[in-house]
Amino acid sequence: MAILDPSPANIMVAADAILAGELVCIPTETVYGIAADATNAEAVEKIFSAKNRPADNPLIVHVSDFIQLDDIVAEWTEAADLLANRFWPGPLTLVLRKSEFIPDSVTGGLDTVAIRMPDHAVALELIEACGVPLAAPSANRFMRLSPTRAEMVAPEIAERVACILDGGPCRVGLESTVVDVTSNNVKILRPGGVSRGEIQAALGRPLGDAPPDGPRRSPGNYDRHYAPRAAVRVVDEVPEAAVGLIFGEPTSSRQIRMPMDPEAFASTLYAAMHLLDSQKVEEILVQSPPDEGPWEAVWDRLRRAGGER
Ligand code: TXA
Ligand code: MG
Repeated sequence: MAILDPSPANIMVAADAILAGELVCIPTETVYGIAADATNAEAVEKIFSAKNRPADNPLIVHVSDFIQLDDIVAEWTEAADLLANRFWPGPLTLVLRKSEFIPDSVTGGLDTVAIRMPDHAVALELIEACGVPLAAPSANRFMRLSPTRAEMVAPEIAERVACILDGGPCRVGLESTVVDVTSNNVKILRPGGVSRGEIQAALGRPLGDAPPDGPRRSPGNYDRHYAPRAAVRVVDEVPEAAVGLIFGEPTSSRQIRMPMDPEAFASTLYAAMHLLDSQKVEEILVQSPPDEGPWEAVWDRLRRAGGER
């Protein structure tokens, strides 16, 4: 496996691999994905084994064009139309009724499919070159941190892919917001790159969460997820000698200063935890960010990173 520049020639190499049923790691604006031809059930199976991911945890299908939706979606809704027009390409995933065209392995047997149009030129060019939508979960092993740099892709993943396209550091730095738009009762299934406030403003009304213990509407939402090897704990103050992410001036090389802005914080969070993790630390303390709406996705990831093992 090689890390390749995303030159037009290398994008063609990657497209050939995808169309031959192989896997490719791709950059997106959120995190790196591990991609396969979404219409090829055998290729999709390879994603689950590379990630060690349970088969009932559905994948996101990535498109480069609205026209591709005709094949994938059985029922397009008004809410989907509003949100896709407002936020695509971008870090928003829409859950809709699926067509027959998408194999059951992609959706973990659900009758819905999660779709997004990524805001990254390399991802869009690759999807276009393939001429098929790409199924791509984050390119991490099950439950671990998602990579936000090509070099962060774990060796166990790297050895299973034809190549890694290097699109540089991911701008958003955590995963897309997953929204159920199968009906007018729009629900956020996973907070992410587009905030609740932005979605509510686009819809012109407030919206609720999916009931966490209701029917398993979003099977990938585990208490522990997006986690480094080290334990993660959110605290009011990180002591001077401790390893951690802080807002103030670092007092050792094992402290990383984080920006006091939710988008800037999100954009470096996984890379910062990855850096400390690679120093084989036992615990990472994170200075508590404000408990305010725009920090919702960051809080979600911090809770899961420190979730029960
Ligand atoms: O930013 C992202 O979304 C990244 C990049 C690569 O696009 N992808 C990503 O995929 O985070 P993944 O597989 O790690 O997370 C997708 C989550 C699943 O765990 C599940 O919770 C939800 O999306 N999901 C997928 N299909 C669904 C469906 N049909 N119904 C409800 N939730 C679904
Ligand atoms: Mg993931």
